[in-house]
Amino acid sequence: MAALPAFFGLLMVAVVTAQNVEITPLKAVRRVGDELIVLCKVPYRIDSCRMTVGPTSYRLIPNNQGDVVYHGQGLEVGECGAQIKHIKEEWNGNISCVLPPKTGSIEVTGTMQLLVARAPGDPQLISPPQSSFKEGDIFMAQCIVPNGRPAAKITWFLDDEQVLAGTHQPIVTSEPGSDLQTIRQNVSRALTADDSGKRLVCRAEHESLDKPKEASRQLLVNYPPKRLDDSSSITIFGLKIAEEGRLNVTVRANPRPHAEWTIGDVKLTAPQKNEDASIEALEPVHLGGGYYNVTLVLARVAKEDVDRTYYLTVANDLGREDFSVRLSTMDEPAGVELETGAIVGIVIAVIFLIIAIFLVVFAKATDRWCFAERNGVRDHTKSSGESSDTESAVGGRERSRLSALGARMRAALPRARDRVQATEPTTDTDDKILAEEKKGVVYAELQLGEQTAEKPPPPSTEYAEIVYTDKNQQETKE
Ligand SMILES: *[C@@H]1O[C@H](CO)[C@@H](O)[C@H](O)[C@H]1NC(C)=O
Ligand SMILES: *[C@@H]1O[C@H](CO)[C@@H](O)[C@H](O)[C@H]1NC(C)=O
Ligand SMILES: *[C@@H]1O[C@H](CO)[C@@H](O)[C@H](O)[C@H]1NC(C)=O
Ligand SMILES: *[C@@H]1O[C@H](CO)[C@@H](O)[C@H](O)[C@H]1NC(C)=O
Repeated sequence: MAALPAFFGLLMVAVVTAQNVEITPLKAVRRVGDELIVLCKVPYRIDSCRMTVGPTSYRLIPNNQGDVVYHGQGLEVGECGAQIKHIKEEWNGNISCVLPPKTGSIEVTGTMQLLVARAPGDPQLISPPQSSFKEGDIFMAQCIVPNGRPAAKITWFLDDEQVLAGTHQPIVTSEPGSDLQTIRQNVSRALTADDSGKRLVCRAEHESLDKPKEASRQLLVNYPPKRLDDSSSITIFGLKIAEEGRLNVTVRANPRPHAEWTIGDVKLTAPQKNEDASIEALEPVHLGGGYYNVTLVLARVAKEDVDRTYYLTVANDLGREDFSVRLSTMDEPAGVELETGAIVGIVIAVIFLIIAIFLVVFAKATDRWCFAERNGVRDHTKSSGESSDTESAVGGRERSRLSALGARMRAALPRARDRVQATEPTTDTDDKILAEEKKGVVYAELQLGEQTAEKPPPPSTEYAEIVYTDKNQQETKE
């Protein structure tokens, strides 16, 4: 039990040391030949300063020369630092400064750790030995970067793209009695068609390496033919009767697929022509990335070719995919243009709505129905009832807001169509009809009876009504 007080004594010294000497940095990594500055400070005047670097203890005196020289503001302010030049490999380990105590006779020390970087060995990539995999296979690889000081840092890449998903926690180990560290990291991944042909790279970075070291392997992923869109039937547009027709279907497959076309009772296995060479199935052309152009050439498109269905089977060792191909002499429907038309229509409708809202707000603000009067149609009021003879013409007092809405819809729809068509250069009889219709479109305001002067006006859109009145109604009014 005599050891116990001694132990506590040591502990005390350690605590006192830690409290008294402030050492910076606590840890540093340097290459051989680099420089390091270590600074120890105490809050009192000192008259000596020593630093232990590697096996040697240096006495530091300001203005002395050498590999380890004094650094600091002066002993009188309690600073004992060292500028350590030309770091040597054997200095890897602890550096301690030794200073006189404030009181008593036991010197105080501060300790920091210097890691003299040592380049790791070449990275090793350990992965399944087979040269190719199937789509969906879980691929696992391990990268080992041995004997670095400190441990190397591992990053994974697929070609140039960093792999983050599926990387496991790295494990750092070292041989007993050695300060060199070996790092291992695993990566696992469900292989996809896009991975095929890419290179899996384990990159090792380290303080003492000017450029990273790499180990890599190629990934080859096999998969059965896949269609590029979901529909099993394909239509080839824009063919011209009596001219050459090319039916091409793009598929993705690895390895290279075989193509077989069936035209009526003729079967052609690419590359092959039929008897009179009027139809030729071409060898699938690799477009890159596993995409293949599979083409059938009709030397001269006949009327009956257009009515036929062509069947195509694309197969490799892993599976097959069937297509039916039809021809059309029409141009491909221009989906984009239609969409543009729709957008223009929507934009016009929105602008129209904003104008309508603005007009109503303006009318309300100035307390008059500025444009209803101009169009010669007087407003009708749902609840007041007494307004005038227009009621009989435009629907009467019982006309509900719902029917007004219906009328608005009826009036607005042909108008929207009118505007969209107006943006297109075509002029046909439709325009005249629409012009006729336009005469029947009148703008009117529907004011709801609930509204009173002191109530805040409900959202003004409620009152923007375009009432469609047909000729008959106009006549009964007169
Ligand atoms: C270095 O110092 C640390 C405490 O700072 C200590 O635990 C370690 O044993 C020392 N290493 C050597 C080699 O002296
Ligand atoms: C890492 O991969 C190796 C071989 O590739 C395997 O033996 C080891 O179990 C894996 N470790 C983990 C943590 O998955
Ligand atoms: C794919 O096939 C079509 C029809 O044969 C052809 O016009 C096109 O140039 C081909 N594409 C490529 C990249 O070879
Ligand atoms: C035919 O080939 C052209 C040009 O390579 C391509 O743009 C087109 O999408 C292909 N058609 C089909 C159905 O794959």
